[in-house]
Amino acid sequence: MRPSYKVTELLGDGIGAELSEAVHALAGALPVDLQFEPVDLTLENRRARRSAVYDEAVASVEANKVALKYPTITAEESPNQVLRRRLNLSVIHRPVYTIPGVPSNFRPELDVDIIRIATGGTYDDPGRRIGDSGAVSLRIVERQPVLEAARYAFTLARKTGKNVTSASKYTIQKATDGLFQEVAESVAAEYPEVPHHAELFDALLAKIIMKPEHFQVVLVLNEYGDFLSDMACGLAGSLGIGASANLAFDASAVVRVALFDAAHGTAPDIAGRGLANPTAIFLALSMLLYQVGEIRVGKAVKDGTLELLRRGVRTKDLGGSESTSSFTGAVAAEVAGRLC
Ligand code: NAI
Repeated sequence: MRPSYKVTELLGDGIGAELSEAVHALAGALPVDLQFEPVDLTLENRRARRSAVYDEAVASVEANKVALKYPTITAEESPNQVLRRRLNLSVIHRPVYTIPGVPSNFRPELDVDIIRIATGGTYDDPGRRIGDSGAVSLRIVERQPVLEAARYAFTLARKTGKNVTSASKYTIQKATDGLFQEVAESVAAEYPEVPHHAELFDALLAKIIMKPEHFQVVLVLNEYGDFLSDMACGLAGSLGIGASANLAFDASAVVRVALFDAAHGTAPDIAGRGLANPTAIFLALSMLLYQVGEIRVGKAVKDGTLELLRRGVRTKDLGGSESTSSFTGAVAAEVAGRLC
């Protein structure tokens, strides 16, 4: 019998419906039984049911522990922000790597796991104006989410034989970034077998461009992670095909719930036309499979999807001629072939 997993499926707007169809088609080709529990997060349903729809989403994710989210329109509220707050998703894991076959201006190979503290920094306080010519905002760094992110980063590095770089501006932001660095160092001491070094964040940006092979797992505060993710995706030439894990932890810093999503938005300009590229959501599904312990299946989904891109089997946004469904069919066949 195929092992079975319940997965909350957070339905979204625009190309969300086509992506969900693609995910179901691919899931049907896998040797695991993914039992999707849909929650309708479309704008129409959010407007009709307001907070009740988030109550339903939170209850489902808390019960199933893993969720796949499709892109949603940010209108009255950002569903991502609401879910992040309500599920206590404190860490974002964004793997970024060059994909052979995806055009990029950057020649070297990049393969970096960015572990970003999803709360605090300068993002939780919009600040205020002081008179006509000044403004102030608070920068918040808390020990607990840094600890969770650091333990996650070092555990990942230990499992995969990678090194960890923690980067901040601890020489200038002595209190906030100093606390971040202190926690990172204390966690590093718990993982003596994992190579670790600290970098100043500005120097890190230059070094990643010059020597990307030196950086494998990078641990950063909220806003630095935001900047670094986009820069890395730009270098990889794949801003539109990245995926992330959004993680919440229990008291002993073990992942409690994980929500996986694509980095791109709802693509209203192409919705309903069979043009949506499902690569990012397939990579999100692959991460979800790793999370539930189906490493071999997760790896086949990732490697199978990337292999097709390498061979030139691509949707229009990447210069190919495949539709959403023909690309999905090709990925499903490739993945099934790898798993038999
Ligand atoms: P977008 O990512 O939806 O679109 C930007 C461009 O990339 C468009 O030309 C689009 O056709 C293309 N694109 C995006 N995903 C694609 C895919 N899978 N396949 C082929 N082409 C793709 O960004 P935009 O236009 O700024 O935002 C549109 C809506 O998406 C907004 O309402 C925004 O709030 C929402 N959004 C939601 C996100 C989420 O739920 N995670 C993230 C970003 C935006």
